[in-house]
Amino acid sequence: MNKEQCILDACCGGRTFWFNKNHPNTLYIDIEPRPKGICQERPNWCCEPDLVADFRKLDFPDKRFKHIVWDPPHLLKLQKTSIMRKKYGTLNAETWQSDLRMGFNELWRVLDDYGTLVFKWSEGSIPIKKILPLFKETPLYGHPTAKNGKTKWFIFMKILLLI
Ligand SMILES: C[S@@+](CC[C@H](N)C(=O)[O-])C[C@H]1O[C@@H](n2cnc3c(N)ncnc32)[C@H](O)[C@@H]1O
Repeated sequence: MNKEQCILDACCGGRTFWFNKNHPNTLYIDIEPRPKGICQERPNWCCEPDLVADFRKLDFPDKRFKHIVWDPPHLLKLQKTSIMRKKYGTLNAETWQSDLRMGFNELWRVLDDYGTLVFKWSEGSIPIKKILPLFKETPLYGHPTAKNGKTKWFIFMKILLLI
């Protein structure tokens, strides 16, 4: 990890939403590396994190990153053979609330003052109204209603002084 890597992708998976999938200022982490070949429709799909790490307990100092993007698994039940499960993982049915709470707290810890955290959620299994209350901070903006499809993006900023 070098000092220039001031951006953290906390759940990189196949880096699908990146315009540059090897952005030089970004550290890509994921808990479960997966090799090429697991996805028949997209044989080149793979999950090759720079670092295998768990967003619930990170080995980084406080305030290490200026920007974090967090796209955790959002589906509860998928068959083991399902391609969605292979590509995106699933939530643990027993622990998902504490996993997401711990994840938010840990990512907030490693976010620098005035840094931004972007959280992505898809309401396939759980509506966003059950997710945001797990977090100790309120987003600045995002999708306040369920009207615009299932995938939602929220932007948090680590502002120190509230006016
Ligand atoms: C929805 S997918 C991310 C997709 C990715 N953003 C993309 O563009 O392809 C969720 C990812 O989170 C990873 N993951 C699940 N639990 C994790 C954890 N505790 N720490 C880090 N990564 C985790 C999964 O392995 C999976 O690759």
